[in-house]
Amino acid sequence: MKMILLGAPGAGKGTQAKLISKNFNIPHISTGDILRSNVSQETELGLKAKGYMEAGALVPDELVLSLVKDRLLQEDCEKGFILDGFPRNLQQAKALNQMLQEIKMNMDRVFLLNVDKDEVVVRISGRRFCENCGSSYHISLNPSKLGTSCEVCGEALIQRTDDKKEVVLDRIKVYEKATKPLVDYYRAQGILEEISGSKDIQEVYDTICRDLQAV
Ligand code: AP5
Repeated sequence: MKMILLGAPGAGKGTQAKLISKNFNIPHISTGDILRSNVSQETELGLKAKGYMEAGALVPDELVLSLVKDRLLQEDCEKGFILDGFPRNLQQAKALNQMLQEIKMNMDRVFLLNVDKDEVVVRISGRRFCENCGSSYHISLNPSKLGTSCEVCGEALIQRTDDKKEVVLDRIKVYEKATKPLVDYYRAQGILEEISGSKDIQEVYDTICRDLQAV
């Protein structure tokens, strides 16, 4: 099963991708997570990406495309994968099509998680994440059982630098302008499924699973 999770910042893509990955045993490929890990390790890619990410802008396509291509060629992707945060614009979507054709694969499903702008601002401003293992929480909507520490690895939870309110509003604008056109692009291919992302985490997950069983 090969799928994409689309949606505004804070729509719940990462949260759902982790659940799907665990339960369907397919890799979760988050370009945001890969880029953040490169930033924290101060790799060449991370140093190039840092300024764009802190400003809420998209990292240039050439940097992102090569990292996705390398990842999709890894053996664990043969049985399927979940793309979270990629593609982000039409150029990336077309490049992804080309990559899939080269490795003789098709995309099965694109889930669009619909959530109101006010709700995503609330979700993002309360989000806390673990830099060590990538787990994500919300101070009130999805709190860690260990308070300010990660349930999975015990590390201290932190706020992402691009989760400050002024950057969040810029990220939403970038989503509206660059990423939203992908909704029509995938609808025209007959693989788009729109889901209400404002229900609770388990309900959203159950809806995705019901759809996947029918594919
Ligand atoms: P990225 O990491 O992809 O961020 P994003 O798309 O802005 O998405 P988020 O991670 O903010 O939100 P999410 O939808 O995953 O929500 P989550 O599940 O965490 O990208 C960051 C940056 O990297 C970009 O700005 C760009 O600079 C760069 N980048 C990445 N990919 C790129 C690409 N392809 N091209 C170019 N640049 C790229 O949930 C949010 C919160 O809500 C959490 O606290 C969670 O616990 C809570 N929550 C989730 N679901 C629910 C629910 N149903 N009910 C209540 N609370 C919920």
